[in-house]
Amino acid sequence: MDEKIEALVSQLSPSQLRQYCLELSDRYRKGSSPFLEKREHRFAYLVTRFPATFAAITRVLQEITRMRIETMLDLGSGPGTGYLAAKDIFPHLHAAHLLETDPVFIEIGKKLIEDKVSWIRQDLKEVGILEPQDLVLLSYSIGEIPEKHWDSILESAWRATKKALVVIEPGTPRGFSHIRKIREKLISYGGRILAPCPHEHACPMKDPDWCHFSTRLTRNYLHKIAKEAALGFEDEKFSYIIVSKEAANPSGDRILRPPQKRKGHVIFSLCTPEGLKNKVVTKKEKEIYKKSKKLDWGDVLKQ
Ligand SMILES: C[S@@+](CC[C@H](N)C(=O)[O-])C[C@H]1O[C@@H](n2cnc3c(N)ncnc32)[C@H](O)[C@@H]1O
Repeated sequence: MDEKIEALVSQLSPSQLRQYCLELSDRYRKGSSPFLEKREHRFAYLVTRFPATFAAITRVLQEITRMRIETMLDLGSGPGTGYLAAKDIFPHLHAAHLLETDPVFIEIGKKLIEDKVSWIRQDLKEVGILEPQDLVLLSYSIGEIPEKHWDSILESAWRATKKALVVIEPGTPRGFSHIRKIREKLISYGGRILAPCPHEHACPMKDPDWCHFSTRLTRNYLHKIAKEAALGFEDEKFSYIIVSKEAANPSGDRILRPPQKRKGHVIFSLCTPEGLKNKVVTKKEKEIYKKSKKLDWGDVLKQ
């Protein structure tokens, strides 16, 4: 994929690329509309945001590897990030329907993805009945659409979900506030939460805290040039929800922060069916302590 992206953006000099990447992050920070104003902002997206959203989608879909996903629908697919992540995870995936309003992203996506997927130009504000698919994904997209349209989008997405509906947003207080609202809505439709919440009670998270997770990705050569970055990696923060039509198995408690691994004990900050809790696992609890030392932020602590 890196070579294809390099070829696509090769028409820009390093300084132009840097400039468009700066403009893009500035537009995201300020909430400028539209985020992607110029054609070159899509190239900047490919270099700086695509690797990060790809990493976040991959991390989230790893929660449902046990599901047999054969078909998917990606709503607000951008250049096809969700399909590219999903095809690495679900070996039986053979059909993907990518809905996107931006014709330039569709054109770029067609160059990036050689597999036979169906690209559909569609404004989600006007989306109606959709053909049901195993997996339905809204990755970093619903937050770009005014909230008054969310009910109809979520209703269509939920009706079209055969197995799992996945919604991912940036791991900011704003992104989490979106996920919290979407969670309530999907529970009201009868959805069963698969992750990250270990329960379907009201979300216990209190301001100014927010539920989010992090995934580390390696910065490739272009990414480093574009960001004038010395570090070889970056951490992408995301908030998410996975809701299923099938009964959810209680997964265990979700680890909400990097565990504090001390000498002889590990301190966890957890979301549990009884609310938010801290738990200390000591050396004395041999089996669970051994497993605890390997656990990280976002994992599940099984009791
Ligand atoms: C931040 S990008 C995310 C792209 C991709 N899902 C990913 O995770 O990399 C948001 C995408 O949502 C699309 N989008 C925004 N509003 C939309 C709408 N009303 N209908 C369809 N797509 C929309 C944008 O064009 C853009 O491709």
